[in-house]
Amino acid sequence: MEEAAEYHSKDFEWDFLKNIVENDPSLSHHLHHQQQHNNDSQKYLQDPHPWQKFHSRHSSGKFFKERRYLLKEFPELVSCGENSNLLEVGCGNGSTVLPILRGNKNITVYACDCSSEALVRTKENIDLAIDTAENFHSFCCDFSMSEFPDWVACDRCRGNFMLNHSEGSEGMRVNYKCSLNDRCIGGVDFVTLIFTLSAVPKERMPRAIKECFAVLKPGGLLLFRDYGLYDMTMLRFEPEKLIGFRQYVRSDGTLSYFFCLDTVRKLFTDAGFIEVELENCCVKAVNRRKGKNMYRVWVHGKFEKPF
Ligand SMILES: C[S@@+](CC[C@H](N)C(=O)[O-])C[C@H]1O[C@@H](n2cnc3c(N)ncnc32)[C@H](O)[C@@H]1O
Repeated sequence: MEEAAEYHSKDFEWDFLKNIVENDPSLSHHLHHQQQHNNDSQKYLQDPHPWQKFHSRHSSGKFFKERRYLLKEFPELVSCGENSNLLEVGCGNGSTVLPILRGNKNITVYACDCSSEALVRTKENIDLAIDTAENFHSFCCDFSMSEFPDWVACDRCRGNFMLNHSEGSEGMRVNYKCSLNDRCIGGVDFVTLIFTLSAVPKERMPRAIKECFAVLKPGGLLLFRDYGLYDMTMLRFEPEKLIGFRQYVRSDGTLSYFFCLDTVRKLFTDAGFIEVELENCCVKAVNRRKGKNMYRVWVHGKFEKPF
């Protein structure tokens, strides 16, 4: 039921919700750039540990929910060529990598997270669900502050992608392999950013997206899904949880940003991407017990690294 709800994207027009929210005085603290933000905001922006604590706390596996709708949302993850590879950034407990590994046995999946606990959770969930996953590899990395390791795309690969393209055909792109460094996989065909960018401090997002751009092959796709502006979970935050415009801190110290389409468009095109798809997914659910409508908003995006 929930899976279908997350996939179907047009229960209502986003402007309808915008109208309600922007005309409700009790929600006015969510709207203004100049809102007084939490005095401790710098502390939250610097602290790398909340996600590690989060994943240690949620070690039972109960928190895990496979994103089964993902392959419907991004069908290229199934239809891509045999030697394709993918980097899932901020893999959490594996909710995104698992449906991909199940749906396409020929894709190689790399996954990273800033929390080593998350990597353990992901591995446990894969081991439970799939017999062997030799095509899965994970590593620890905070992509908002450091580069992905050199074996994803070495300096020479990053610099030579343009050169490679001008000489290359579609086939060469897919099969591209670093000729200098045996360990380097020569970049990836896909990067998935699924509910990860919203956890990064807003001022570090441009750098983080450039890093994803740097390790994609030309013609490669970045697949994006994250919280949309005025999603129900945004409107539930109390004023003191605001630490910046549209960014909030949860009681466990993790951050959540809520994206409008223009912000996403600017972030990705400034990094060099071409917009392929970008839309709000708007889903209405009803809380029968309370008799209340719940308006969910997610942003769906697909961006290409140009040739
Ligand atoms: C909401 S979870 C999403 C997990 C997964 N992508 C999914 O589809 O369920 C966000 C994940 O991003 C990770 N994360 C947050 N900031 C990060 C950063 N700067 N670098 C790498 N991972 C980060 C967190 O540890 C967490 O596992």
